[in-house]
Amino acid sequence: MKEKISPPLALSLLLGILPYLISCSQQKDHSYAKKLFQEKQCIACHSIDGRQKSQGPTLKGIFGKTVVVLTKDKKQKKIKRDIAYLKRAIRNPQAEIVKGYNQIVMPTYGKDQLSDKDVQALIEYIQSLK
Ligand code: HEC
Repeated sequence: MKEKISPPLALSLLLGILPYLISCSQQKDHSYAKKLFQEKQCIACHSIDGRQKSQGPTLKGIFGKTVVVLTKDKKQKKIKRDIAYLKRAIRNPQAEIVKGYNQIVMPTYGKDQLSDKDVQALIEYIQSLK
């Protein structure tokens, strides 16, 4: 016996999941990360609109792009800015220094400063800065 979903049933199923689909497709507003960005002083050194500040590089449009960094043993390395890189850039900025910048400028944000959830929110925010 073949079972078919009747059209009214199909329609009600669709209507049922519609709000869910809409909420998934909506962009996150990143309000929590934006607040952290202010409170933790990221904004003092990093622009989010592509303008270059004297202290640090802009964070606009960097996700997925390659950058030349200096590693701890002063070797130049081309690296793709993925999630793991951004995590290191926040948690352990001395590990890789963006070429042309001073290594002592960016503070290290340990767990006492930013929780893992905070770092994840910031990374998602940086990813959204296209
Ligand atoms: C006192 C200035 C200063 C503050 C505050 C600061 N940064 Fe930085 N940041 C820098 C500098 C300078 C660099 C480049 C040198 C380096 O790689 O460490 C950098 C690099 C980065 C990079 C890598 C950028 C790239 O082009 O690959 C990320 C991501 C980043 N910072 C995120 C943050 C976040 C998020 C915060 C706040 C929680 C923050 N920074 C706070 C100065 C700062």
